[in-house]
Amino acid sequence: MQTADPFNRGGFMAFVFSMVFSLAFFVYISLINQGVDLREIPEEADLTAPEMGLAATEDSAEVDLSQISELWVSTEVLVAHGRQVYSVNCAMCHGPGGQGDGPAAAGLVPPPANLVTGPWKQGATSVALYQTLLKGVPGTSMAAFAHLPKEDLWALVHYMRSIAQNKPDDDARELEEFARSL
Ligand code: HEC
Repeated sequence: MQTADPFNRGGFMAFVFSMVFSLAFFVYISLINQGVDLREIPEEADLTAPEMGLAATEDSAEVDLSQISELWVSTEVLVAHGRQVYSVNCAMCHGPGGQGDGPAAAGLVPPPANLVTGPWKQGATSVALYQTLLKGVPGTSMAAFAHLPKEDLWALVHYMRSIAQNKPDDDARELEEFARSL
């Protein structure tokens, strides 16, 4: 039979350890790491830092496109806006990168055009692309997008020309005349 240990060594050690730990923790939070006062915003806090989600994004939504007088002239802002409009209206068929491989492309006859390599049955000048968007491609599932605002249509044209590899040059005069006639 085991005799009772009047001096419970294990229990005593556990007690000592817990006291030392509590003391160390108390010293730590009271003297070493006092934490932050949540009522105070640190002066150095940068509210526009990217991790705050408030920084300018590629999204051009904050830019007022209606202030752009020459929409037919490609700019980074318009291309970025076009990319957005494209991802909402076109990517399901023409694919995220324009290669005609969107999720809705399967089974379409004819398949959606590859907007990177062509071939450009309707033409790939800015004027031709704009007209394709206005009219669609009859006999295919390519609908007209004439209901979109002018800003969106020009932005789409600029985005498409930014990803197209073998596009013909624009005739600047013809382009401006066309744009002004719209
Ligand atoms: C329902 C699927 C579908 C959607 C959505 C769609 N397209 Fe198309 N697109 C097609 C098909 C199909 C064709 C015709 C391909 C052909 O003629 O061989 C086409 C043709 C085109 C062409 C002519 C290419 C050429 O051969 O010259 C352009 C430009 C184009 N699409 C741009 C767009 C843009 C920009 C959007 C979004 C605003 C869009 N499409 C939305 C299916 C789609």
